[in-house]
Amino acid sequence: MNNLDFINFFDSIEDDSLTVLKGLDSKTQKKINSKYFYDEKGSILFDQITKLDDYYPSKIECEILEKNKDSIKKTLPSKSVIVEFGSGSNQKIKKLLDAVDKPIEYIPIDISKEFLFKNAKDSAKDFPNLKIKAICADFDQIDVLQSIIGKKKSKIGFFPGSTVGNYSPEDAKKLLINFSRILGEESFLVIGVDLKKDIEVLEKAYNDSKGLTAEFNKNILNGVNKICGTIFDSKLFSHKAFFNEKKSRIEMHLVSKKNHIVKILNTKIHFKEGETIHTENSYKYTLSSFQNLAELSNFEIIDVLKDKRSFFGVFILKVKSI
Ligand code: SAH
Ligand code: AVI
Repeated sequence: MNNLDFINFFDSIEDDSLTVLKGLDSKTQKKINSKYFYDEKGSILFDQITKLDDYYPSKIECEILEKNKDSIKKTLPSKSVIVEFGSGSNQKIKKLLDAVDKPIEYIPIDISKEFLFKNAKDSAKDFPNLKIKAICADFDQIDVLQSIIGKKKSKIGFFPGSTVGNYSPEDAKKLLINFSRILGEESFLVIGVDLKKDIEVLEKAYNDSKGLTAEFNKNILNGVNKICGTIFDSKLFSHKAFFNEKKSRIEMHLVSKKNHIVKILNTKIHFKEGETIHTENSYKYTLSSFQNLAELSNFEIIDVLKDKRSFFGVFILKVKSI
């Protein structure tokens, strides 16, 4: 396919082992960064989760993009380069491409290498007239991304799925400021944000009746085994997800079913029965709390699109001066 380029910037195995060890070898709450969910199996599981009735965000976000495509077209510049952060299955980009006038290039960025490559190939077939440059990288690698993406040309960033909710508000601010630098002055960012709602609806989305979220949660240990050469047995852990009202976030944990030890980089990690590894936060915002965050992160609010029940928000932001 001559409209597709693939660039790999994601091979830092040693650093990752140390990061994982630091999170687990701790006197306080053990934790693993949620980016380690996404090996190929994790990406496939997440894609299956998005199709479940219990997991409402993806379907609602797609509906919002589809319903508002005319107004989106009026707001966003034509002949732009579209940069998607954490592109996953590339499903939502179809909705955005449908709403944007004459995009000239699509740059999906994701850490899940095999999944990114497969989906970029599919997009190259679906959009033969669009140049596609798939970048396998951690989207925290601002220097690398700035140099590949370049400063010229009008850009539209796309950050759907409420992936921003997997960062604490403080880290989300740093991430969004980095995105504003990668995109450059006068560029836009279309960002999907899951909103605060009834606890029952929220908790059901992370405790689905088919058990796919439980499988996704446990699969992080298989990902860690591949990266760190550990021998975590995911059968020794159970899934736990609940809404932490005070922090306005869903927390996912893995609960150790018995006392046991796992060795990582020659360090023995002790797990007590009932002890948990904190694997993910998914922050839920109000419309105004997210607007405040965006404004503190170098963006101005251009438009806020939402569904009738205010379950999910799609914010159209513009980079302020850098
Ligand atoms: N945007 C898609 C997928 C959301 S899942 C959707 O809305 O359905 C989150 C995606 O972000 C996954 O594909 C995961 O591999 C990617 N991801 C998570 N952390 C990342 C990071 N630090 N750098 C790059 N990609 C990341
Ligand atoms: C990608 N991210 C926004 C999802 C979320 O809802 O926090 C990941 C996920 N975790 C459990 N289910 C889905």
